[in-house]
Amino acid sequence: MHRVIISGIGVEIPEPSITNEELVDSFNAWVEMENVRRQASGETLLQKSDSDFIVHASGVQTRHVIEREGILDPTRMAPRIPARPDDALSLEAEFGIASARKALDHAGLEPPDVDLVICSASHHQRPYPAIAIEMQQAMGTKGAGFDMGLGCSSAAAALHIAVNLVRAGAHRRVLVTTPEIITGHLNFRDRQTHFIFGDASVSMVVEGLAQGDKRPGRFEVLDTRTWTQMSNNIRTNLGYYTRTAQDDPYMINLEGNLIKQVGNKVFKEVTVAGHKFIVEFLAEHGLTPQAIRRFWLHQANARMNAMILKLSFGHEVGHDRAPMVLERLGNTAGAGAVVALSENHADMNAGDYGLLCAFGAGYSIGGALLRML
Ligand code: COA
Repeated sequence: MHRVIISGIGVEIPEPSITNEELVDSFNAWVEMENVRRQASGETLLQKSDSDFIVHASGVQTRHVIEREGILDPTRMAPRIPARPDDALSLEAEFGIASARKALDHAGLEPPDVDLVICSASHHQRPYPAIAIEMQQAMGTKGAGFDMGLGCSSAAAALHIAVNLVRAGAHRRVLVTTPEIITGHLNFRDRQTHFIFGDASVSMVVEGLAQGDKRPGRFEVLDTRTWTQMSNNIRTNLGYYTRTAQDDPYMINLEGNLIKQVGNKVFKEVTVAGHKFIVEFLAEHGLTPQAIRRFWLHQANARMNAMILKLSFGHEVGHDRAPMVLERLGNTAGAGAVVALSENHADMNAGDYGLLCAFGAGYSIGGALLRML
């Protein structure tokens, strides 16, 4: 059995950003237009959104997005991403490659050093051919590639697989990529969810620990774990069979088929499950939360993370112990915890423990216990 490390981490954040105020202005302009129609037809009127509520309820101040004009246009309210010909690099592969190249640079490796690409995300651009295979071709990695997903635990679950494949000797170096273009599937006309998400791409290089490896700032992955339990509280119904339920199967009706969530239930249930997961996972290694120098938690809600830590530690825990990137980036689904890791480890010392832990749709939780080399 090989010892396994994360030898490189790469993050790509799209440049355009949207503030709460901009998002709320556009949402409210749409509500005013929609309510004129609803009033005329006697339908229930919609309520406006509010930026103070957003900050208070979620902690999000801004989010970065692949394309902002289409999202902010109250007559559209979705990113405008032109279709590309089949022989052009697809957007998801391009976004994945942007962070993958940074991860390889960080690891001091070239694409042919990689013998497996796993592209794991909440929303893939298409089912096949796999985005990972497109990345493999475009970058020149060896071996194979496949796609997978586990909601906001997508990166953590792919890390779980990659680590165990390397540990078992099935692959030498695995590139785990999580390109989250979540705005592509977000319902910007839904007051409950329109403010939550942003786009980001992250990649990690997973390989065996070679004798004499002197690369600084690398983490040994001591263990990984994934937990799931069925819940409909975060759900999308868009899929292969969507059209078969419709009168006109050649026109897809998106009503009810975009992301929906019962936020307050998710908050309560995942907080309890997340804290239990952390305490049990650490206990299996003879560790308590106090022994962990840093927690890189899923970035969905600042209050939720504070609560998970409070339950785990028995007291409040500061941001230095569990840094947040949510305020700036919004919830970037599977990418969030890895962005937090990438931005918050330079001050750690050799031997320090860290816990990467993501949670979300499924429900699902994925964790990796790391120790700085
Ligand atoms: N603007 C203003 N008010 C809003 C609003 C908005 N955009 N959205 C909801 N509200 C209102 C509701 O109508 C409700 O009003 P009422 O009390 O008069 O009925 C009130 O705010 C509280 O709604 P609720 O849904 O209970 O809010 P919340 O405090 O739970 O916050 C979330 C909502 C989504 C921020 C929060 O539940 C959350 O982050 N949950 C976890 C989500 C998560 O982790 N998802 C994982 C995905 S990866």
